[in-house]
Amino acid sequence: MSHTNLSSTKSNQSCDIYSEKCKAPNWLQTCFPCFGPPLSLFSNVNGKLNISPQFKSQAGKEIVHRNDTFGGLLHDPLEEDITSILHTKIDLIPDDEYKELMNITSPFHINVETLIHVMQVMENSIKMGLDPTTQHKSDLKMIPTYVTTIATKREEGDILALDLGGTNFRTLLVKIRPQHDPVVISEAHIVPDSKKQNSQELFRFISDVLKLFMIRNKLDLNKKFILGFTFSFPCQQLALNRANFLYPTKGWGLQDLIDHDVVEKLQECLNEKQLNVRVTALINDTVGTLIACGYKVPSCKVGIILGTGTNACYFEDISKIQTITDTTVLPLEATQMIINTEWGALGDSGCLDFVVNEFDREVDKVSNNPGKQIFEKLIAGMYMGRLAAEVLAVLMNHGIILKAQRGHQESYRQYSPFWVLYNLQTSHISEIELDTGKTFANTRTVMNKLGLPQASDADCAIISYTCRLISRRAAMLTAAAIAVLMKRLRGSNKVCIGIDGSLYRYHPRFNMIIQRHLKTLAPVLLDYELHISSDGSGIGAAIVAITADQERQKLKKIALKPTVAC
Ligand code: BGC
Repeated sequence: MSHTNLSSTKSNQSCDIYSEKCKAPNWLQTCFPCFGPPLSLFSNVNGKLNISPQFKSQAGKEIVHRNDTFGGLLHDPLEEDITSILHTKIDLIPDDEYKELMNITSPFHINVETLIHVMQVMENSIKMGLDPTTQHKSDLKMIPTYVTTIATKREEGDILALDLGGTNFRTLLVKIRPQHDPVVISEAHIVPDSKKQNSQELFRFISDVLKLFMIRNKLDLNKKFILGFTFSFPCQQLALNRANFLYPTKGWGLQDLIDHDVVEKLQECLNEKQLNVRVTALINDTVGTLIACGYKVPSCKVGIILGTGTNACYFEDISKIQTITDTTVLPLEATQMIINTEWGALGDSGCLDFVVNEFDREVDKVSNNPGKQIFEKLIAGMYMGRLAAEVLAVLMNHGIILKAQRGHQESYRQYSPFWVLYNLQTSHISEIELDTGKTFANTRTVMNKLGLPQASDADCAIISYTCRLISRRAAMLTAAAIAVLMKRLRGSNKVCIGIDGSLYRYHPRFNMIIQRHLKTLAPVLLDYELHISSDGSGIGAAIVAITADQERQKLKKIALKPTVAC
């Protein structure tokens, strides 16, 4: 058993969106667990694709062009000059193919004007989401979390935590001592896809895993433990230990849980397994990230997840949250509360249609929640690989990439390289983007892994360019959204922003692009820093759970719902 501090945890099994193997029966589902087969970007199966008129740069501009025949496109000085990848050798790509490549990929070019527009849309949704009279019209749920402070560092106890809904499912024992960094024992587990559908099966499964974790770590099963639960899905929170599930995201099912209290359901299963464990708090993973980061850096005001899904939370003045109905559940001295924005849903009403392109629409259409989580689908790890595959498939259809692999097949759809492209994962994009030189070593490795061993230099350059375009747009949109939250932190001169998630951690340029765009978009007078808060979400749940328990004992007035006896 290893005891580690905040920044490292022990994993005995690890599962990652980047490496997760899917167990669906046929090969297609094995490749795309959450999607149906790729279909409808192709209006003409055997011929070339007719790009619809919407296939224009949403910003109305383009980046550098190689010669004057590709006219009308402006260079945005803020954009990284990623076209240089296409010029690693003279005449690497024939002119007509280059022009076609630029046209097909142009919808992914956004500029500062687009980002400012996104910011305005988001600001408006935030205001509407905080006002009970307009809340129903807002894409952003702006959920009050009932977490009103970061830890005092006077907390003490050995707390259990569960962290569910991200890349891994984690069980944690967090030892919190005054003025010390928490000591964490944690294990990562895979939740089988079969357990992601029905809540009772899921909670029974995680209760079993928790019991084994407690036994393995020699915890006294007769002793009473409190538990913090990080549940990374939208929930309408009524108190720290009351949270009604709203809707599933990230390919999960759990339809039976909708409108039910998640804490109650979990508690029932823990009781059924005769575990002497009481759930005192449920939090979102963004909240866990903020709280864990705040334990180290007290100026932390924002928590962000950029992983399989994406979301953010921030400290808002309680006076501006008109949607809190019961203030008796709040500590008397509270002036601020963390709001879970659920920013992944921005655009669900169509307010981001000026950014969303045909490729995004395709990804949305074949997802298991079409029309939902639009912003998330533009950014998060669950969708980025698929988005790149959609673009590469079109490029292949146009004879711009993988010509050798396509051979003389008339119907490329019956030819495996086309389908193999759809095995591309977000982890591959991170790997591809690690290439710096002209040899495209990583891109070749990825192509080999996918089963496309003869990628030419031009293929590699174009694949690499496409991945960079897609991830750059994602990082730019993230920067715009972060800037909006920064603007809400009026009154703070210095803030820290805690970020976690597999996309942020493993993508080699995401952070750099966010930082670059924040220089333009963030409020001028705000002194900010971005902190990676590794695996903080579970630790945050333990900290909130102990705070909740101590508040509960302190304030008789607190109107916590009686928990199911255990
Ligand atoms: C969920 C959020 C969560 C985010 C990151 C989204 O799909 O709706 O609640 O915070 O993923 O895990």
